[in-house]
Amino acid sequence: MSEQPARTLVTSALPYANGPIHIGHIAGAYLPADLYVRYLRARKRDVVWVCGSDEHGAAITLRARKEGTTPRAIVDRYHEEMQGAFRGLDIDFDHYDRTSSAEHHEFAQSFFLDLLEKGAFTEETRQQFYDPIEQQFLADRYIQGACPKCAHEKAFGDQCEKCGSALSPEELIGPKSTLSGATPEMRETTLWYLPMDRHEDWLREYLEQGKLDGEVHHDPKAWKAHVLGQCRSWIDGGLQSRAMTRDLDWGVPVPVEGADGKVLYVWLDAPLGYITATRNWAAKKGVDWEPYWKDKDTQLVHFIGKDNIVFHCIIFPILLKEQGEYLLPHNVPANEFMNLEGDKISTSRNWAVWASEYVQDFDGRSDEMRYVLASIMPEQKDAEFTWEDFQSRVNNELADVLGNFVNRVFVLTGKFHGGKVPGASGQWTDVDEALLSLMKGTPEAVGEAIERYRFREALQHAMGLVRAGNKYLTEEEPWKVAKTDPVRAADILHLALQVTANAAVVLAPFLPKTAARLTDALGTSGLPWDAAGGSLVPEGQPLGPLPILFEKITDEQVAEQQAKMGPELEGMRDVEPEKDETTFDDFQSMDLRVAEVLSAEKVKGADKLLQLIVRTGYDERTVVSGIAEHFSPEEVVGRRVVLLANLAPRKIRGVVSQGMVLMASTEDGGLRFVTPEEGAEPGDIIR
Ligand code: MF3
Ligand code: ZN
Repeated sequence: MSEQPARTLVTSALPYANGPIHIGHIAGAYLPADLYVRYLRARKRDVVWVCGSDEHGAAITLRARKEGTTPRAIVDRYHEEMQGAFRGLDIDFDHYDRTSSAEHHEFAQSFFLDLLEKGAFTEETRQQFYDPIEQQFLADRYIQGACPKCAHEKAFGDQCEKCGSALSPEELIGPKSTLSGATPEMRETTLWYLPMDRHEDWLREYLEQGKLDGEVHHDPKAWKAHVLGQCRSWIDGGLQSRAMTRDLDWGVPVPVEGADGKVLYVWLDAPLGYITATRNWAAKKGVDWEPYWKDKDTQLVHFIGKDNIVFHCIIFPILLKEQGEYLLPHNVPANEFMNLEGDKISTSRNWAVWASEYVQDFDGRSDEMRYVLASIMPEQKDAEFTWEDFQSRVNNELADVLGNFVNRVFVLTGKFHGGKVPGASGQWTDVDEALLSLMKGTPEAVGEAIERYRFREALQHAMGLVRAGNKYLTEEEPWKVAKTDPVRAADILHLALQVTANAAVVLAPFLPKTAARLTDALGTSGLPWDAAGGSLVPEGQPLGPLPILFEKITDEQVAEQQAKMGPELEGMRDVEPEKDETTFDDFQSMDLRVAEVLSAEKVKGADKLLQLIVRTGYDERTVVSGIAEHFSPEEVVGRRVVLLANLAPRKIRGVVSQGMVLMASTEDGGLRFVTPEEGAEPGDIIR
């Protein structure tokens, strides 16, 4: 085992508070950290685990716009939602914080100023995309266009979600603002940049040799190959400078005079949330936070998903090193992705198992999900969750092996020994010795795997002990032996009980509820990890009632879960929420008419506008319509349309528009005319 640190600070990626948590998140950054921390706690190590909601960034403002609400309302909602999901799965942080708090804003600002003073940033005026209609600079996420790599039509300015390429907005073909649909313009703005190229040399030494300032910092061989591989390819590609501030109105304001309308880049502010969370945890506990971030004997470990690697292995370390007082990560055991039933997990397609829905549907059965996710965790490569596999692991492994073993041990102890732990003769057979030695070695094997972040392997070791115990009972048949050789039968049960008690210790990180049921029934609650390996339940100890551990997952349950993401949802779309209730009178106040387009021409100097002349049956009038990017004048002439006839006249680009033609906005951003059925004539009233 690796050298023991004085303390460990564990972080899990701060989840964006813009949507619910799904099992891919859980398997990526939360469950592995929870396993690691529960294990360290059981070892009585000094460990603190912090997390919190990432409440800034364009994803949140975008969501708020889409729902017609404020970023504050969005983050408040999901800050609560996510905590409920974590609790339901027994994801047990020491402290869960949020980045929109005043404390965090203050801390992030002081950190930024510190770096500014130390010369870590360059101030540069550059061209940035600007939305001329919304009159604001556009975050990368607010720009969509065709991907230069795979031609996917809806790539974002920072990433193509089809092919996974990281992009910058200038690379997009045919960029459009997602706010207004306008073609963005380039405008000058002044931002603070982090010149990352300055840092390539020490980063290489840090990542590849595990050295910092010429001293040994960590063992680079302990890092996952895919993590180092990603870092290497970033550095080999040449590190570009990256803007550390953005022109946005939601985030941590840049604490510099004249920087109104600018906020800190979310990937500067969010990781600092780890520090804020640690400070707030320490304040709550009445202890000093600084050793956790500044003492060389502390190990800092970041649990994340693979899309966060560059931020935790390159950008955040640069920021920390520039500041100078803080520790750099000891390891970043990022996980790869979890797929679902043959496809990528996708929030927008609702192709996900939502953590809080699972918790609701499988009330109290968090261990089952933890077990399955730990069994298939995407540690070295992408993995896949299916409900059938979930069912078979729960039924065949948890119920048929662990549940069955425990059940037999308790029933037999009840039947032959009045529910009290029988004594042992000390006359062990070879078979007993083999099981004893497996029992002795298991805590170390499990712990060693956990310390290497090999959680699947660790779980296999822990379950290996249970399997061996189950097999032992089956083959030794104490219920038969009891009739002829009660001393031998007692030995068998005694040993099986020790195996059960040991299993409860080594399985506790994975199955906290099950382990608690077992230790309650065995009377072994609160045993530390280091007690395991030998005899844990003394002769004569009365057992509690038989713990009921697992129920089988039925085919119906599987079908029900599959259907949730299956055909029923196909064709469902991410719709705008309904508007507030209106009144009949309000509706009556609108004069909607059938009308016919007589002529159409482009409005000079306005890409989006067509000037139409429409016949209403009682007059002819001019209407300016924002459809020029979707329809040519020829496509429009002769159509019958629905006109809002009594809309107050408005001057648009010098033309007075008298009314509005109704259009349907399609999901892909297109427009369709609303056309009255054949037989309806210009002038007909629509009501
Ligand atoms: N919110 C980011 C995500 O979900 C993770 C932020 S991690 C932090 O991908 F380090 F920035 F906090
Ligand atoms: Zn692409």
